[in-house]
Amino acid sequence: MTTAYVLQAEDVAIHYGGVKALDGVELTLKKGQIRGLIGPNGAGKSTVIDAITGRRRLTRGRVLLDGEDVSALGAVERRQRGLSRSFQRTSIFSGMTVRRQVELASHQMGMADSGADADAVLEELDLARLSCMVAEDLGYGEQRRLDLALALVGRPKLLMLDEPMAGLSVKESHDLARHLQALTSRWEVSVLLVEHDMDVVFGISDAITVFELGRVIASGDPASVRSDARVREAYLGSAA
Ligand SMILES: Nc1ncnc2c1ncn2[C@@H]1O[C@H](COP(=O)(O)OP(=O)(O)OP(=O)(O)O)[C@@H](O)[C@H]1O
Ligand SMILES: [Mg+2]
Repeated sequence: MTTAYVLQAEDVAIHYGGVKALDGVELTLKKGQIRGLIGPNGAGKSTVIDAITGRRRLTRGRVLLDGEDVSALGAVERRQRGLSRSFQRTSIFSGMTVRRQVELASHQMGMADSGADADAVLEELDLARLSCMVAEDLGYGEQRRLDLALALVGRPKLLMLDEPMAGLSVKESHDLARHLQALTSRWEVSVLLVEHDMDVVFGISDAITVFELGRVIASGDPASVRSDARVREAYLGSAA
């Protein structure tokens, strides 16, 4: 099936007993676009990433990747099909060099030429010059870029990032934002970006979805979301 959407989440619900962490969530992402996900603490942003990656079982609904229903697949199979995420505290092996780690991750993904794949990723993220460094000697901002590199091996179609700017300086955040934008155009990666830094989210997103208490309360282009009365009341009023 051909579709303009790399991701379609339909009527997604995750309930923990009586707690509706997500309820009736609709979310789409077009190829090569960045969608920002914002909302107050506990709104369900991380849970929606877990639902899409297959880390959490859906109570209801389904997830489509490139038009194909992947709801029944496990997290590893979804990653193989191009659905990737980065974690807050990583899969980084601190004693290994940058190049070795990325190559190993690529090898684990089953890439035929994991060396070439690793080099392309390192080049794209300006990490090539740090190839021979041991991860634990990297600065925090560089470690976060290594996280991103590990999520990019195997050329995923969809990259989901949970607060990638947390703990970064303003300059590091802007560098990372610039890399994300370059990735969407050069590698045609689509990005789902959960982030509390409103300057970054409104600056680089093609579309924004706002969560509150497990539900989508607004969705659209940045300008319309920014001026939405309910969003301002629920969230932006205090955050922006
Ligand atoms: N394993 C669990 N059991 C019960 N409730 C859970 C579980 N995991 C998450 N929740 C609840 O689901 C809701 C959504 O949490 P989630 O972590 O997705 O929010 P969030 O939007 O990512 O918040 P933050 O901005 O603080 O990261 C919260 O009410 C949380 O308490
Ligand atoms: Mg979260």
